[in-house]
Amino acid sequence: LFAHIAPRYDLINDLQSLGWHRVWKRRLAGLVPLSGGGWVLDLCCGTGDVARAANRRGARVVGLDFSAPMLERAQARASGRAAGGPGSADFGADAGTVRWLRGDALALPFPEHAFDAVTIAYGLRNLSSLEAGLKECWRVTRPGGLLLALEFGKPGNPLLRHLYTAYLRLGVPLFGRLLCGDAAAYAYIAESLEDYPAAAEVGVCMNRCGWTDVQTLALWGGTMTLQRARRGY
Ligand SMILES: C[S@@+](CC[C@H](N)C(=O)[O-])C[C@H]1O[C@@H](n2cnc3c(N)ncnc32)[C@H](O)[C@@H]1O
Repeated sequence: LFAHIAPRYDLINDLQSLGWHRVWKRRLAGLVPLSGGGWVLDLCCGTGDVARAANRRGARVVGLDFSAPMLERAQARASGRAAGGPGSADFGADAGTVRWLRGDALALPFPEHAFDAVTIAYGLRNLSSLEAGLKECWRVTRPGGLLLALEFGKPGNPLLRHLYTAYLRLGVPLFGRLLCGDAAAYAYIAESLEDYPAAAEVGVCMNRCGWTDVQTLALWGGTMTLQRARRGY
């Protein structure tokens, strides 16, 4: 799916969120700890927005994804080759010191405690096992390090939830059809949310996987969720 939509992924993100995904991702990257230019793993990095935003804050970043076309686009954007594209105007073409790596979030090719923080934007929902993914994140994070996750939420307000679900089921696939010729590829967002728990339950799962101090921030009435958790000592 992601291999197919990679060329238009950034454009569709901008259109379907009216550019707001950039603000939410910057907010996520803003939580990356700044001390001593630590190592950050951006999991399910896609075309690299969060990885590059964290890198610009001074972190040394590894961006990992299992889709080669998404990674190719991430590399192109980081080296400036895709500059001028709709996805790159705001994030700019930076020094390109992010290391891009193809790999599986459920079987990470890193030793224990390798990272000061793990970021993941719109990735948790895509993992075939949320619990296995959270455990892998925990394994590669140093004691005291952070997990920072951005994901679609499930608004508590019934009217907002209804409008939001209708938009994800009807509006978003329309962008997919117009720009990728593929509505089904974008219908997956609503479909994947059906099986994905709400933030409170994700927080409980984080606790179960060893994460502590889970904090949840609801953005835009809970349509988006930012979660921060710490690996205990
Ligand atoms: C919705 S995109 C998010 C991309 C980027 N983080 C963003 O916010 O724009 C989800 C990404 O997760 C990747 N992905 C899904 N499951 C994965 C896994 N098990 N291991 C590595 N990457 C995975 C997909 O290839 C895709 O690029």
